[in-house]
Amino acid sequence: MSLTRRTLLTTAAGAAVAAGTLGATNASAADISAPAGAIGTKATFQATLDYALAKLRVVGPAITQFPVITKFEKWTFSADGDWVGGFWPGTLWLSYVAGGGEQFKTLAATSSQNLAPRQTDTGTHDLGFLFYPSWVTAWRLTGEEKWRAGAIKAADSLIQRYNPQGRFIRAWGALSSPKDAGRVIMDTMMNLDLLAFATQQTGDPKYLNIAIEHAKTTQKNFLRPDGSTPHVFDFNATTGAPIGPNTVQGYSPTSAWSRGQAWAIYGFTTMYRRTGDPQFLATARKLADYALSKLTPDNVPVWDYLAPQAPNDVKDASAGAIMACGLMDLAKASKRSSYHDSALRILTALSDTCLTTKSTRAEAILARSTRNRPAEDGIEVSVPYGDYYLIEALLRVLKPQELAKAIGL
Ligand code: GLY
Repeated sequence: MSLTRRTLLTTAAGAAVAAGTLGATNASAADISAPAGAIGTKATFQATLDYALAKLRVVGPAITQFPVITKFEKWTFSADGDWVGGFWPGTLWLSYVAGGGEQFKTLAATSSQNLAPRQTDTGTHDLGFLFYPSWVTAWRLTGEEKWRAGAIKAADSLIQRYNPQGRFIRAWGALSSPKDAGRVIMDTMMNLDLLAFATQQTGDPKYLNIAIEHAKTTQKNFLRPDGSTPHVFDFNATTGAPIGPNTVQGYSPTSAWSRGQAWAIYGFTTMYRRTGDPQFLATARKLADYALSKLTPDNVPVWDYLAPQAPNDVKDASAGAIMACGLMDLAKASKRSSYHDSALRILTALSDTCLTTKSTRAEAILARSTRNRPAEDGIEVSVPYGDYYLIEALLRVLKPQELAKAIGL
């Protein structure tokens, strides 16, 4: 598209060019944004954070395992953490960062320690989800060596799942089992920052190199021309040859599961931050523009943007929280303020329409998240990653420097 001088000057970017200020943050008429909607003030977001901390002060001390999902508004638990065990200690660490007090630091350390047996778990790709919000953050906040060493050990376990023929990290299944050996999922993009951490800490490039190869394979095979993505892509595990798109948690191989799209926005932006590779930034923008183009005026993602009933179908507020975090990071990386405004609109919508505030029973903070719609499992409930990324997004607005120290932004 060529811009006339008049068009250029009527956009924010054009005005910035004219004023000689391009290069800070800017937006243009061509930017894709969340639908127009209220943008909360800092006071709105502080009120949401205060609600979260108050809830966690009441609920937190009695929790000794890892929350997995709510049933009739009460947490159900896993003893070993399943794939979500990083989010409860992560939520507690972020509550400490938010100024919630020493009690959260103590609870966070105890909960993080309970994940210790998973350091050597080579049976899942979820080691980043498990160890980044917990042990990496613990190390950043306390400087205690055991957290750093444990996170690196988890990265050593994760790289064992790398398939050099296909240049991907296998998502599911024991390494000894051929079942799912060639199965790659979008969610793995969120596990890569643990590898970047391991390279940064050890000076050994092997971890980050695997993360880069995996991200490039994902970029090449998952991205459709319009920026949408499937949940799953299958490869021949022996030759590494691509087979085709698939899904488990989305509607179909050709649909666009909103949480997977959100993991992708966040994950590719992180990979850009860690490598400076402009292709990762371009990919993150394409993914974000697609998701933003699919938001409805309520600014809460539907569970799958291409499900037959979409957009009039069940919601996934956790996808909104993850996407808000990714968009705020992307705004900085791309120097496009429209992504930040879109994130604030989503965060406002979550604060206004998705909190558990009106329930005295609820143990979680964010409601209306959907775990697995095709399996009819967890429809508009609460999940620990919903709460974690909601608080992360709030801190991105309210305490950006403290958050950056805690999670390595
Ligand atoms: N990583 C699995 C999920 O997002 O549900």
